[in-house]
Amino acid sequence: MASDASLDEREERRGTGDRGFDPAGRLAERDQRGLRRELTPIAAVRGRSPIADDPGADEPVFDGPEQLLFAANDYLGLAGDERVQRAAAETAREVGTGAGASRLVTGDTPAHRALERDLADAKNAERALVFSSGYATNVGVISALSPDVVFSDALNHASIVDGCRQARAETVVYDHCDPSDLRAKMAERAANGPAATGDAGESWLVLTDSVFSMDGDVAPLEPICDVVESFGAWLMVDEAHATGLYGGGGGIVQRAGLSDRVHVQMGTLSKALGSQGGYVAGSEALIDHLLNAARSFVFSTGLAPPAAGAAREALRIAREDDAHRERLWENVARLRDGLEDAGYEVWGETQICPVVVGDRDDAMALDDRLRSHDIVAPGIRPPTVPEGTSRIRVAPMATHTEDEIDRCLAAFREAGRELGLV
Ligand SMILES: Cc1ncc(COP(=O)(O)O)c(C=O)c1O
Repeated sequence: MASDASLDEREERRGTGDRGFDPAGRLAERDQRGLRRELTPIAAVRGRSPIADDPGADEPVFDGPEQLLFAANDYLGLAGDERVQRAAAETAREVGTGAGASRLVTGDTPAHRALERDLADAKNAERALVFSSGYATNVGVISALSPDVVFSDALNHASIVDGCRQARAETVVYDHCDPSDLRAKMAERAANGPAATGDAGESWLVLTDSVFSMDGDVAPLEPICDVVESFGAWLMVDEAHATGLYGGGGGIVQRAGLSDRVHVQMGTLSKALGSQGGYVAGSEALIDHLLNAARSFVFSTGLAPPAAGAAREALRIAREDDAHRERLWENVARLRDGLEDAGYEVWGETQICPVVVGDRDDAMALDDRLRSHDIVAPGIRPPTVPEGTSRIRVAPMATHTEDEIDRCLAAFREAGRELGLV
């Protein structure tokens, strides 16, 4: 949305016949508010890689030392796994590099169907459907369900927020991970909404991430299911940061044994599965409805077949080979313990380890110092997180060695001392 300043400028320019957009002015404004984002090219998607300064339209130059990357969502390191890479190459050869059309036209290939059968199996659902990204999945699914009212966790991902906007649903935000607040807000709506005057026909959708990407905590799904069921609503759970990491390659829903109490299970192929794309899993009727009504599925080219082939192989590895998951959890424990021993406050209980320092300038200074120690872990500040909770989001991978985890810890200790944070 344009700020007041740029609206004033636009008013002024209107008089001169200028109906353009002034991107440079908008960037300057972002700069002023400390909200300018930058790209950081990396040479390869691995736990260690050279990085380059943003060269704009020019070619990036990777002439520095290798950096240890603690910033990726490729938690199991499968984007660099030879078996996954081979599956992508074979699918490209056998099926094609692109789907060529919407799945509903001629883009529906055996690569998609095989992946969807395996995803449905991993999520204990009747059927699954893949989209070209997790973002497109949330936006498409929520708007196709077209709920009258959405109850959404305060820290849900932006793609859920955008899905609610596109659905034009009345959105009630409940306190983060708080089933009691959810119950109170649903009760209030039941007492004061149209149902109170005899119109019980409203459709209600409760939406929550299972693992929250910035806090690394886990939604209390069982009590949420109890609340949802007591009001006859539906529950949709976003397993973007959990898929492949728990219960036989499933997510938190599977770990908690709640597959049959969650109406819509959503996730991405782009994080622990090392590929690209999103999925939704549920009943046969739900999936049939979505492939008819989700605009980001209907009016978009099908997921690229090599991405489907790669995700399927990664899912197989996540389900059949415990070694990657075990390595990840060992690394997480070593890193969390080491950071806490060093005097940092580390939130969450998952592979996402947010090191909360509070002040936004401190977080960005720590990000900078870590980089000078060849450690890349991004500083996250408002508005992405609430004021006073700026942090470094540290995400170890299964493919980091013990020595690399220790190098990360040493850098945190030294940088923290230099900045007086620990
Ligand atoms: C919770 C959550 N949902 C959805 C998405 C979107 O997934 P994708 O990156 O595959 O578009 C993300 C991505 O960061 C996410 O964190």
